[in-house]
Amino acid sequence: MKILLTGGTGYIGSHTAVALLEAGHDVTLLDNFSNSKPAVLDRLHTITGVAMDFFETDVTDEAALTEIMKQRSFDAAIHFAAPKAVGESMEKPLHYFKNGVGGTVALLQTMADHGVRNVVYSSSATVYGFSDDLPLVEGAPTVVINPYGRTKLMCEEILQDLCRADERWNAIALRYFNPVGAHPSGLIGEDPQGVPANLMPFVAQVAVGRRPELTIFGDDYPTPDGTGVRDYLHVMDLAEGHVAAVEHLASDPGYDVINLGTGSGISVKEIVAAFEKASGMPIPTVIAGRRPGDGPASYADANKAASVLGWRATRSLDEMCADVWRWQSQNPNGYGD
Ligand code: UD1
Repeated sequence: MKILLTGGTGYIGSHTAVALLEAGHDVTLLDNFSNSKPAVLDRLHTITGVAMDFFETDVTDEAALTEIMKQRSFDAAIHFAAPKAVGESMEKPLHYFKNGVGGTVALLQTMADHGVRNVVYSSSATVYGFSDDLPLVEGAPTVVINPYGRTKLMCEEILQDLCRADERWNAIALRYFNPVGAHPSGLIGEDPQGVPANLMPFVAQVAVGRRPELTIFGDDYPTPDGTGVRDYLHVMDLAEGHVAAVEHLASDPGYDVINLGTGSGISVKEIVAAFEKASGMPIPTVIAGRRPGDGPASYADANKAASVLGWRATRSLDEMCADVWRWQSQNPNGYGD
C-alpha cells in the first residue's frame, strides 16, 4: 500500500514509518516540525536505506494537502499529527481544537476529494478517564477529563459519523495506552521539548544526568506499591499495530475502535527499578503529592486487537528500558545534538 503519515517525523510516526517499510509498504511523511526535528529524516534513511518522501506541511493547511494528494496516489492515511500535552491543552484549548480537530477535518476533506477513504487514527486511552473496572474494554464508557482528551473523542466521533454516512469509508481509531521505548538501533526515539511531562523520558533524562532526580507523583494510591499503574508498551509493538490496522482496512471494516496495549499494569516504582537494571545507572527519586488529573491505574483489555488485527505486544519491559537507554545514552540531548 501507499500510505500517507501525518506527523510522520514525530515519535510514533517515525517508528511506524520503519515498520511500514519493513512490511513492504510505501510511505509519504508530512510534518510541520512543531514537535519533531528534520534530523529524523536522515536517521530514518540510515535505518531503512530508503530516502523519505517528505512534505513540510501543516495538517490544517487544506491547500497544501490538496497539492500533496494531487502529486501522490494514496491507499490510506495514518493520522498522527496533533498536539498531545494534557497541561497545555487546559491552557490553550483553542490550539487543541484548531489543530487536533481542525487538522483531522482538513485531512479527511482532502482525502474524500481525492477518493482516499481509508484512515487509521491516533486516539488515546485517555478517552476512558480513570475507572475501577479494569482492564479497559473498548465498550467501556468514555469520559472527557481535559481538552486534549476531548479532541481525541471528537475525532473518533467524526470518523464514526463519516463511516455511517458513506460506506466507502473505513476508519480504525487506535486507543494507545503508554508508548515507551525506541527503535533498537538507538537512532530514533522520543525527544520531548523542555521538561518531559511523561514518566519514561523523565526517567531516561535522570539516568543520563540531565536531571537530578525523578519526582514520583503519589505513593498512596490503592495499588500494590502505592504508585500509579499504567500499561506501558514498546513503540515498535505500537508501530506494528498500525501496520496490522492499515492492512485490515483493505477488508472493508467500516468504523472500529481498538485498544493498543499489553494488557498488563506496571507501577512507577517498577519502571524505576527496570530502568536502573537496564542502564546500570542510579535513578534517585523523591515522593511528592499526586499530580492533578491522575488516577491510580489504567491498563488495556488487549484481546480485541488480537482477534481483529492478529496483533499482540511482544516486547518486554526490560526491552523497553534497554532500547530507551540506548537511544538516550547515544543521544543525550535528543536530536538537538
Ligand atoms: C499522560 C496523560 C494522558 C496522555 C498521555 C500522553 C495525564 C493525567 N495523562 O498519561 O492523558 O494521553 O500522557 O502522553 O496527564 N509520573 C511520575 N513522575 C513524573 C511523570 C509521571 O510519578 O515525572 C507518574 C504518573 O503519576 C503516572 C505514571 O507516572 O502514574 C505515568 O505518567 P505519564 O507518563 O505522564 O502517563 P499518563 O499519566 O498515563
